[in-house]
Amino acid sequence: MLTDYLTAYRPGDGRRAPRAAFDSDGARLSLNGRWRFRLSPTAEGQPVDADFSSWDELPVPSMWQLQGYGVPAYTNVNYPFPVEPPYVPDDNPTGDYRLEFEAPFERGVLRFEGVDSCFKVWLNGEELGWSTGSRLPSEFDVSLRPGRNVLAVRVHQWSAASYLEDQDMWWLSGIFRDVTLLATPVVNDFFVHADYDHRTGNGTLAVETGAPGATLSVPELGLSGVPAAGPYTLPVEPWSAELPRLYDAELSAGGESVRFRIGFRTVAVEDGVIKVNGRRVLFRGVNRHEFHPETGRTLDEATMRADIELMKRHNVNAVRTSHYPPHPRFLELCDEYGLWVIDECDLETHGFHPVGWRGNPSADARWREPYLDRMARMVERDKNHASVVIWSLGNESGTGSKEPGGTDNLRAMAEWARERDPSRPLHYEGDWDSGYVDMYSRMYAGVEEVDAIGRREEKPLDDPALDEHRRGLPFVLCEYAHAMGNGPGGLSEYQELFYRHERCQGGFVWEWIDHGFSHERYGWAYGGDYGEELHDGNFVTDGLVFPDRTPSPGLVEFKKVIEPVRVTVSPESVTVTNLHDFRDLSHLSFSWAVEEEGREVASGVLDVPETGPDASVTLPLPALPETAAETWLTVRAALAAGQPWAPAGHEIAWGQCQVRSATAAPGASAGATAGESAEASAATAGSGPAKASTVAVAGTSEGASAGGELAVGPGVFDAATGRPLRIGGVPVEDVRLDLWRAPTDNDLRGWPTQVATEWRRAGLDRLHHRLLGVDRTAGELVVRSRVAAAAQDRAMLATYRWSATGDGGLALTLTTEPEGEWGFPIPRLGIRATLPASVDTVEWYGLGPGEAYSDSVQAARVGRYAMSVDDLQTPYVFPQENGHRPGVRWAELGGLRVEGLFGLTVRRWTSEDLDAARHLTDLVPREAVYVNLDLAQQGLGTASCGPGVLPRYDLPAEPATFSLTFRSAV
Ligand code: GAL
Repeated sequence: MLTDYLTAYRPGDGRRAPRAAFDSDGARLSLNGRWRFRLSPTAEGQPVDADFSSWDELPVPSMWQLQGYGVPAYTNVNYPFPVEPPYVPDDNPTGDYRLEFEAPFERGVLRFEGVDSCFKVWLNGEELGWSTGSRLPSEFDVSLRPGRNVLAVRVHQWSAASYLEDQDMWWLSGIFRDVTLLATPVVNDFFVHADYDHRTGNGTLAVETGAPGATLSVPELGLSGVPAAGPYTLPVEPWSAELPRLYDAELSAGGESVRFRIGFRTVAVEDGVIKVNGRRVLFRGVNRHEFHPETGRTLDEATMRADIELMKRHNVNAVRTSHYPPHPRFLELCDEYGLWVIDECDLETHGFHPVGWRGNPSADARWREPYLDRMARMVERDKNHASVVIWSLGNESGTGSKEPGGTDNLRAMAEWARERDPSRPLHYEGDWDSGYVDMYSRMYAGVEEVDAIGRREEKPLDDPALDEHRRGLPFVLCEYAHAMGNGPGGLSEYQELFYRHERCQGGFVWEWIDHGFSHERYGWAYGGDYGEELHDGNFVTDGLVFPDRTPSPGLVEFKKVIEPVRVTVSPESVTVTNLHDFRDLSHLSFSWAVEEEGREVASGVLDVPETGPDASVTLPLPALPETAAETWLTVRAALAAGQPWAPAGHEIAWGQCQVRSATAAPGASAGATAGESAEASAATAGSGPAKASTVAVAGTSEGASAGGELAVGPGVFDAATGRPLRIGGVPVEDVRLDLWRAPTDNDLRGWPTQVATEWRRAGLDRLHHRLLGVDRTAGELVVRSRVAAAAQDRAMLATYRWSATGDGGLALTLTTEPEGEWGFPIPRLGIRATLPASVDTVEWYGLGPGEAYSDSVQAARVGRYAMSVDDLQTPYVFPQENGHRPGVRWAELGGLRVEGLFGLTVRRWTSEDLDAARHLTDLVPREAVYVNLDLAQQGLGTASCGPGVLPRYDLPAEPATFSLTFRSAV
């Protein structure tokens, strides 16, 4: 058959040997642009010389499903076709591409940076060869004819290679990276060795190249036209992710020259620790897929820069290129901006897991060649990047055979790479034995296990030799803190372990970006939105940034948790600890500010003396001004000068400390007597807008019934039900106990149980409130109710005690008491209320400005904030609980002021609407504003993939008391 290559184990035919990615000054022609295109439903396409004059046009590079040909499909683990390697379905969308171009030269190289997944190439009707390995380059030698040439490329969605490309992402196809025609190079390949000896401060430079007579120039090092091979040992400034010093270099041979950049650094695993330039490094990392909401895995340079700049601005210092080598330009940018890179090979066979790993290519000798081919193409392409410090064999491809002498293609990849490039340690997570790699790597291990690993006290392997080897290795979490939806919670507990244990060298959050496609109907589309037969829903949207790269609260939290400077503030002094691995703090400026109830009353700058990595300095603070209200001192570290990734003044780290606690204002609620309250409430009622229908009776804290209404301070109640109707003139409805939140992805997906399933089973989303009694005692309106779900005998008893304060307020003390069996944490405990739709802006004093939850609260600081109701929402791709601001001392919304210490959530839809919504476009503002005032909420955790909420952040159903004061905001 014409298409036999689709089921071949071998990775390609007719290709040139893999080599480094670089641009020379030789002639080149970009073939990016509009190509002729036709999509067929099967691989048995038309002859290659078909008349294509009537075909459509398609941009190259692009992914055809995003240009209106077919639709994207998302699966995480499952192959979307039967598992019968090397066979693929007859329904195999096949794109024929044609490009006519004028020959720029006679002989050259045709280079494809990435074609998903298998393609064959013809030039002027003659077959050049075929290739697989979607995220790897393929090159073919070409002889051009003078004038017009016709290039034909046939791309198949499925091939045997698809079994090796089961990464958790959208299935998308086409020529999705650049295509270039290069004049046959003189310098075909080169390998830069640029080591750094931290003891002497010298770099050693040697450039291996097959080009005869090649010379090297590095003007800054005084090297000019010297033989490339070297080696040259001379004083240099080293490269690191923190100080990415690069030297411009030029390699010349046969009249051709190649410009490239050199970073001197030495990576080594020594004493069980990964060291760069002699120092232990800590990875504050993220896993980055290539994704754009319009173009899929086709990225332009601006998008790559946007990713890197955002990472740098959020204190991220490392990237794992999950799970394939990125566009080569990305690595040049990592060299330039400074990021540690784990370059991961384009390999994942996770779909064999659901069939018990039967037939896994990792343990099958027939697949050895494509495994080695992939590793070689990555290592050869990317070997000259200073930023690439670790090679990763791939992701979730099981293990090779564990039988003596059995096939282990992963080990074979490792052996090849170690031989070819002994300068970089190797990584692979999928084989916990870690027998052929240089670090022990895990994903989603819980804090307790990571702690044990950090102490080198992990559970032993059966094989003592392997165990000893592994126990001696450094440890990384190649994935942790699953950033799906609202979360991740519990980041700081991991960070503490990374600081505590030398062996724990950090981790890489899963993952950088939500892979949601722009969609007319859904806003952002995820798995299932294109009618896929099998899909994994919104599991594809689990990033620290939304699909449009807006940082999510998770990224803001991560930035704070991983800050490279710790600022510990006390009222008298500030201690600054440098947590960088290489640089001192001279690039930062430190300032302090004192805020009394959120208003700045004093500020200044701090002179922090030279403080090297790992060192600390304690500085006295000037005498702070006297204040009357709650007062906080904040110390900030910001960039002193602009960097390529952020302007001067960009904040890197901060610390905050309370220097004065709140005191009760004279006459405030606490000590007020009933009589005083009554006067105050009468005065408020008299001056407020609500005096019309209710009259408070002087001398008691309660008003008399007027038309079935009852006044308590500024509150007006339904006398029969005890329900508040108005407070300080603001209409309020439905003020009652609330236990429900729209489950987060982490609530919904836990292992082995999902807390949200328990909540629904218990009916927390459909609670009924039965009034037990309304009692009017002197000074108090007491309303008791029993809150329970249909078909359940467990309940929460709620007692609301309403009273007037001495200064015009309405105090509420809510006590709750669980009845029956509650063996699970509850979503929230607090009050909900419905306010008029006219509420537009919320001002508060408390934690902010972004949302925060008990286990994701490091980034929140005490201050005075104002935000519109719309801006208080966090637009998670899959709607869920969001927008909670904890630690609020007071909030003002639409004429109503609430005081106490509470969590605040304000939205234009109910929790039930949020729960029912599947896409952001399902959320339609109602004619009301819904407010939650929480005593507490359940933590977030990362159970959507990994450990759930740590016990200390659980919200158990226990007796509780919650006090609030309401008053008119005017
Ligand atoms: C890991 C996998 C990632 C991703 C993640 C869950 O097991 O390596 O590719 O699927 O889980 O989002």
